[in-house]
Amino acid sequence: MAAEKGFCLWFTGLSGSGKTTITNVLVKELRRRGSKLEVLDGDIVRQNLSKGLGFSKEDRDTNIRRVAFVADLLSRNEVPVITAAISPYRQLRDEARAKMDGRFIEAYVKASVEECERRDVKGLYAKARSGEIKEFTGVSDPYEPPENAELVIDTEEQSPEESAHQILDYLEQQGLIPAA
Ligand code: ADX
Repeated sequence: MAAEKGFCLWFTGLSGSGKTTITNVLVKELRRRGSKLEVLDGDIVRQNLSKGLGFSKEDRDTNIRRVAFVADLLSRNEVPVITAAISPYRQLRDEARAKMDGRFIEAYVKASVEECERRDVKGLYAKARSGEIKEFTGVSDPYEPPENAELVIDTEEQSPEESAHQILDYLEQQGLIPAA
């Protein structure tokens, strides 16, 4: 097997766009291939590393800087990392990219607000519309889509398995993971 290379696959996208679902499919396949890897999922990071932070711009920025800090520590030691946070602000994602220069792969998980709202997996869009949840990304808070992402994953057109395969193909082409 090829030597492990550290990289950070950085998902960005609206709540309900499919970041966590695709991550779960990817993790299963990468583990099957014998890759080591670590995952920093937004919801889980917020229960631990970022416990107590809210959703103001300042708190989101702090959250994303923490995710980038840990992702850098891991990826520079040859541990591939997948991050799955909304990471709504371009500037913060670019900061993460600069920190992990050459190891950062931005993957835009693309689905419209209308589609995410239709899915409303966690029932949060309904609460955002009723005003029960404030500063909700895509409804009452900004989301800045990437302009030069390495990967654009269209989850309105693809199943999670198809999306995972698109990403695996890319990682293979880059020589970052062993072939199937
Ligand atoms: S980020 O903006 O700081 O990147 P992160 O991905 O960690 O966000 O957390 C987003 C998750 O928190 C959502 O998937 C959702 O479950 C929950 N959440 C609760 N309130 C909000 C809100 N106001 N905006 C976005 N997500 C929220």
